[in-house]
Amino acid sequence: MSMTRANLNGRSILGNAAKTAVGLSLCLMLVTLPGFGQSLAGRWAAIGRTLDNGEQEKTILELAQTGDQLTGTMKSQSFSMDLNGTVTGSHFELFGPRSKTRPMLAGDLVNGELHGTVFGRRPWTAKPATAADQLPVISYIEPPPLHNVAYNGLAKTPPMGWNSWNLFQGRVDDQTVRSIADAMVSSGMRDAGYVYVNIDDTWEGVRDAAGNIQTNHKFPDMKALADYVHSKGLKLGIYSGPGPRTCAGYPGSYGHEEQDAKTFAAWGIDYLKYDWCSAATIYKDAQLQPVYQKMGDALASTGRPIVYSLCEYGRGSVEKWGPEVGGNLWRTTDDIRDEWSSMIGNVEEQVPTAPYAGPGHWNDPDMLEIGNGHMTDDEYRTHMSLWALVAAPLLAGNDVRSMTAATREILLNKEVIAIDQDPLGKQASPVKNGGLETWIKPLADGSVAVGVVNLGSAEAQASINSRDLKLGGKVKRARDVWKHQDVKFTGETYTAAVPSHGVLLLRVSAK
Ligand code: GLA
Repeated sequence: MSMTRANLNGRSILGNAAKTAVGLSLCLMLVTLPGFGQSLAGRWAAIGRTLDNGEQEKTILELAQTGDQLTGTMKSQSFSMDLNGTVTGSHFELFGPRSKTRPMLAGDLVNGELHGTVFGRRPWTAKPATAADQLPVISYIEPPPLHNVAYNGLAKTPPMGWNSWNLFQGRVDDQTVRSIADAMVSSGMRDAGYVYVNIDDTWEGVRDAAGNIQTNHKFPDMKALADYVHSKGLKLGIYSGPGPRTCAGYPGSYGHEEQDAKTFAAWGIDYLKYDWCSAATIYKDAQLQPVYQKMGDALASTGRPIVYSLCEYGRGSVEKWGPEVGGNLWRTTDDIRDEWSSMIGNVEEQVPTAPYAGPGHWNDPDMLEIGNGHMTDDEYRTHMSLWALVAAPLLAGNDVRSMTAATREILLNKEVIAIDQDPLGKQASPVKNGGLETWIKPLADGSVAVGVVNLGSAEAQASINSRDLKLGGKVKRARDVWKHQDVKFTGETYTAAVPSHGVLLLRVSAK
């Protein structure tokens, strides 16, 4: 460890110049003895990105250290997170509250600076913080008293469309959205029901002198873009949040709820995803409902029909009060990733919310990853089947301009879409039997959708017993909606081979 680091961190380790020479040499011994990690205690300022609206991102890390154990917080304008971890020699690993296996930050102390990556991906560097490294102080706004926001009459079946985040993240712009809208039409997605084209985070500019939110250079004219999307028979969605900053660090709607709702309505927006993010630095989970109600009221008062999508990762039992704030759907989980364990984990995590789904208000295990390339086609078929069985919103998250035949066949399977869009709006729940998981969804016409997912690593025989389907009679017709073929029950059972991570999905009706 260099003296520079020790001196710069002197506030917490060595104190002021009055520290004795004994203290200093003891400390230097501790940080250089083999087996002891170097000292990372103190305040660090991370060098942030320049956002698309020209603002500079800033993150402050405050760490305390006991031996090789680290605890602390990481704060930016968008979030505040508790961290803990270890330091071994010069190497540190810091974990967020969600994962004990995947470090949020990992790297090394090099020449008095922290050099590493966020989640093993994005490069990250921090320097000892100076007095100038402060986050802006945000004044507290008391949330309103609770009342019921009237249902807006939208989303009678789970919303369908496309969202920019899963694939494009910050690389979304006006041209991309226009070309996606074109492809939604030419690929048949629109006609299959995928009508919302949703711009996620990173469209935001800064506020003007009157406090009106502007777009950044990637979206020169949002009203013109909405007109274009509408001219294609599609609808346009946008993103904001109740905190001062969005998850990607852009201005949120905090203190500007009515103004932003009016702006969105004037632009011709049809769908708002409203993401908690930095609101967590101001409000407690017990305040989620009134905070979300505030934007629910603001949207209602525009008079424009706008689907209201709550994104707060299932905190505070949102399924119990989502409809009361005017919400049409709400996330039940953390962000999905394009990998099997994340997809399965998300849909299983929302099982307890099943009784709360229904026409106008849906549980949302997050957007689709189908076609993004990190799962097999069998896994993507399972992803689509499960989202249909649990009546999840179907928001494609891939590049619909260049889909493989398999991706197209999965996203455009009308028989599977019909299960998702069934007007009864029931959310299936699973029954596990070894490595097989069976999900049963009653449908409006008295038939039943039944899916058997093979969670195991080898092909397995899946058996469906008609008695479990509670059809109220013998099987009249059974259809494999992936093979687009009728199949025959022998007596009360139907058995078929299901590949590892694959699915058998039937629609079964009774005599
Ligand atoms: C959160 C949400 C994501 C996405 C990003 C954008 O992580 O859960 O779906 O909207 O923010 O910053």
